[in-house]
Amino acid sequence: MSPATHEPSLSNPRPKPPIVVGITGASGSILGFRLIEELLKLGQRVQLVITEKSYQVIFEETGLKMGGQNKALRVLDHLNLPESMVDLLDVFENNRLDAAPSSGTHMTQGMVVIPCSMGTLGRIANGITDTLVARAADVTLKEHRKLVVVPRESPFNQIHLRNLSLLAQCGAVILPPMLTFYLPDFGTIDGQINYTIGKVLDQFGLGHDLYTRWGQHIPPAETSA
Ligand SMILES: Cc1cc2nc3c(=O)[nH]c(=O)nc-3n(C[C@H](O)[C@H](O)[C@H](O)COP(=O)(O)O)c2cc1C
Repeated sequence: MSPATHEPSLSNPRPKPPIVVGITGASGSILGFRLIEELLKLGQRVQLVITEKSYQVIFEETGLKMGGQNKALRVLDHLNLPESMVDLLDVFENNRLDAAPSSGTHMTQGMVVIPCSMGTLGRIANGITDTLVARAADVTLKEHRKLVVVPRESPFNQIHLRNLSLLAQCGAVILPPMLTFYLPDFGTIDGQINYTIGKVLDQFGLGHDLYTRWGQHIPPAETSA
């Protein structure tokens, strides 16, 4: 068989590789689910890796129970997305080190760890790859693909700051869910969440209307004294 047979053709383009999303046991699980929602609505394939420690936080924060089977269907149901989208979403347990995102031969567009706990941050920054989320992040860095880390802790101690700095030096984008105030869009919790999710999508060059960009906003009318 000639190698040319394997080339993608315009009439049969290969689907875009998935984006790996890691949800860990930091507060802010809604950020992870909102990102998944937006990616799926954009037709992006998502490979979700979810840590066991995140289960309790997810339940406390969203009421969603993540244990057991059929996780992908339950996530879709939670997000009010149609079951037909299940082809776009794979969910992996954190101990599945044999799962596809564990290998650099598996193509992805990159990975987002959102929210990223200080525990998982420490594992990634120090090359401790005994969980799938840490291994997938390690693979993302070694393959020079986009790694976006959305850390959640306050305040940070020196260990957190050192680990964040180490990851930034290795090419990761550190994108904390910072409060933002400079446009009316940001005046609600939803507006704040949309801002962070929009900033993550920007990192992958994905178009969205989650917030108004500076320069496209209508400035408030001047008030006469
Ligand atoms: C309700 C709740 C909220 C938590 N919030 C945070 C947090 O914001 N940041 C953090 O680093 N850890 C947080 N933790 C602690 C982590 O869940 C814990 O360190 C865990 O071991 C992280 O494991 P993982 O990185 O494998 O998910 C929280 C725990 C609970 C129960």
